[in-house]
Amino acid sequence: MSKKILILPGDGIGQEVTSSMVEVLQYLIDEQNLDFQITEKTVGGSSFDESGEPLTEETLEIARNSDAILFGAVGGPQWDHLGWDLRPEQALLELRKSLGLFANLRPAFLFNELASASPLKNHIIENLDILIVRELTGGVYFGEPRGIVENETPKYGFNTMIYNEDEIRRIAKVAFEAAMNRDKKLCSVEKANVLEVSKFWRGIVTEMSAEYPEVELSHQLADNTAMQLVLNPNQYDVIVSGNLFGDMLSDIAATLSGSIGMLPSASLNSSSQGMYEPCHGSAPDIAGQDIANPIAMISSLAMAFEYSLERVDLARRIESAVKTFISKGYRTKDISTSEEFLKTQEVASTLINILKDEYE
Ligand code: IPM
Ligand code: MN
Repeated sequence: MSKKILILPGDGIGQEVTSSMVEVLQYLIDEQNLDFQITEKTVGGSSFDESGEPLTEETLEIARNSDAILFGAVGGPQWDHLGWDLRPEQALLELRKSLGLFANLRPAFLFNELASASPLKNHIIENLDILIVRELTGGVYFGEPRGIVENETPKYGFNTMIYNEDEIRRIAKVAFEAAMNRDKKLCSVEKANVLEVSKFWRGIVTEMSAEYPEVELSHQLADNTAMQLVLNPNQYDVIVSGNLFGDMLSDIAATLSGSIGMLPSASLNSSSQGMYEPCHGSAPDIAGQDIANPIAMISSLAMAFEYSLERVDLARRIESAVKTFISKGYRTKDISTSEEFLKTQEVASTLINILKDEYE
């Protein structure tokens, strides 16, 4: 079955990790004779440089018609001065909103071999395996009204944190179902002690738990969860949260795994169209040196195979190749404890060799 893939490398290390990922993708296309139509476009700052816009209407249209979008990262100091609507991050927000990619899955797991790279003590972090389900197209990120008012004294800025019951139900459903496929524990995170929107969120999630009697549901306040994630992360299986708290919690969770360079993410809509991106950003400080860790991007490709490209088998093969890569002692700079490490492009060739070995 033919599938359409849009590749958006973006800026900074986004470009390097994407080209490493594309090598793995190309290898699998050849090996499996996959019928994929691939388009590559600029996005973010590099799109601005090319066309004056972080996301062109043409690219957005191609994205709408794609099964999977593989997105590197956007942003960099050279675009910091741009007006609000021209900032590279706007491309990301517009893609999420226009495609209705409301369900953001951010797994945080540890390869035990990398426990020493984690900021936490080994016994606290071992066997870490959490899934954060973040609502991605609502909440305070998109709530109206919003703005900056300059012609009053004092001047002010404001946003609206709002969730309606349908938005809460559809993200909670994704989270309950994910929990059913895992350890059947779901923790819903908000600030119900302060925010009405959170109190409402808690009520809807509680109501829905009747449909999932096997899932053990708990509720936690976001500040507490931030603390618990570093004190005792293994108490969690699936965490569900709104856009803003989910953003923060997923950064904390990601860094527990030793390097944010290891973790993939998927953003899905209700027709299994998805955008797949590493959890890390464009890291301008290390861009252009061929030292970025492409594993998060390559694992994002695995998630694309699972959720949008109907080849779970290939998702499992990539994941298994990454496991072998780590257990054989291959390291990139961010996770290496010595001066020895593989360059970004070498990771692809090493993984392809492992994929070949494991296939034969
Ligand atoms: C993320 C990023 C984005 C967000 C930014 C770049 C808009 O931090 O994907 O987590 O806040 O959602
Ligand atoms: Mn973030």
